[in-house]
Amino acid sequence: MSESRRREFNFGAGNPAPEVFPARALGEAAQRVLARSGKELARYPDARGVPELRAIAAERFAHVHGPRPPIDDIVITNGSTQGLQLSAQGLARPGDAVVVEEFTYSGTIRVFRRNGLQLVPVALDDEGMRMDALAEVLERQAALGRTPSFIYTTATYQNPTGTTQPLERRLRLLELARRHRVPIVEDDTYADVSFEPLTEPALYKLAEPGEVLYLSSFSKILGPGVRLGWLMAPQPMLGRLLGWKIDGGTSGLSQMIVAEYFKEQLWEHVEEAALAVKEKRNVLLDALEVEFGDMGMHWTHPDGGLFLWITLPAAVDRQRLQRLATERGIVYATGQAFHALDQDVPYLRLSFGWIAKEDIAEGVRQLAECVRQSLPAVV
Ligand SMILES: Cc1ncc(COP(=O)(O)O)c(C=O)c1O
Repeated sequence: MSESRRREFNFGAGNPAPEVFPARALGEAAQRVLARSGKELARYPDARGVPELRAIAAERFAHVHGPRPPIDDIVITNGSTQGLQLSAQGLARPGDAVVVEEFTYSGTIRVFRRNGLQLVPVALDDEGMRMDALAEVLERQAALGRTPSFIYTTATYQNPTGTTQPLERRLRLLELARRHRVPIVEDDTYADVSFEPLTEPALYKLAEPGEVLYLSSFSKILGPGVRLGWLMAPQPMLGRLLGWKIDGGTSGLSQMIVAEYFKEQLWEHVEEAALAVKEKRNVLLDALEVEFGDMGMHWTHPDGGLFLWITLPAAVDRQRLQRLATERGIVYATGQAFHALDQDVPYLRLSFGWIAKEDIAEGVRQLAECVRQSLPAVV
């Protein structure tokens, strides 16, 4: 195998920067926790989670959005993926319609589909879900005599597009949801992977209690391997979800270690993690400008999160592009993976958390070559 073939350019994985994963500090935290409260692990954890980690979740919300929510409203989950699963089970029935952004997290699509939900897409632009399109979708559903079970949105640093809804859109979204009596599931997994101060408040904060279910995660500030997320809602919505959390509880060991670590250095770590991916985003944006600047292509400029979204020239042979990229060890996610209706669309998502900073410019240079080779020859 040649040297160039062995090199991998992984723009595919939606992971944070591995070089800031605090392995040693977590090891030390684990020792302290086990020495102090090992006995706790000889029984099942509380279904709602360890209070110390719920307090850290509340602190995260307070710091980013304010004010501090009561920990009674917070439940620790097995990643925010479990929050998605519980939303599908607790707020909907198989066969129900749920409204989603036209491009949305592939894991969400999988969970909702597997639960028999019908995804109703709403168009996006550079400021997230379009409210004119949402109004139309909700009107159309009403005309069919249907009320969607909920509207799912990632209003901040959206996956896959990296876009953020401005305040006016958030207010309009709440107004439309209220008018049509549809709850909102707000996936705020990326809110504190922020490169600029986040000025847009969470929908949860703007809403009346019970209008919004809030989902978040420890995956993107720490690592998906710890499998910790959290959700937040007041009763009775919380009860509807908890009724489905029949997993014996989320790992108490994982929760205790992470709570012990974050008790001392939550914001220090979050800032370090965000800075590491911000630097990679900057290198990626510069490389895209150099390599794709003259190709009339469009890409988003995210202020946070782990992704940017590229619009490919329509003439690109996308299958050929994928084949050429794979041959060179370039991994990216196709637009189709995120399309609510599984359509083959001319986009691709580049993740900039996992890849080494030194590999980004070369990876983009090679990707640009693959794109050029996937265009029809000019005769
Ligand atoms: C928008 C969104 N929600 C949820 C998840 C799932 O994350 P977790 O590891 O917390 O289950 C992801 C992961 O990529 C995501 O992008």
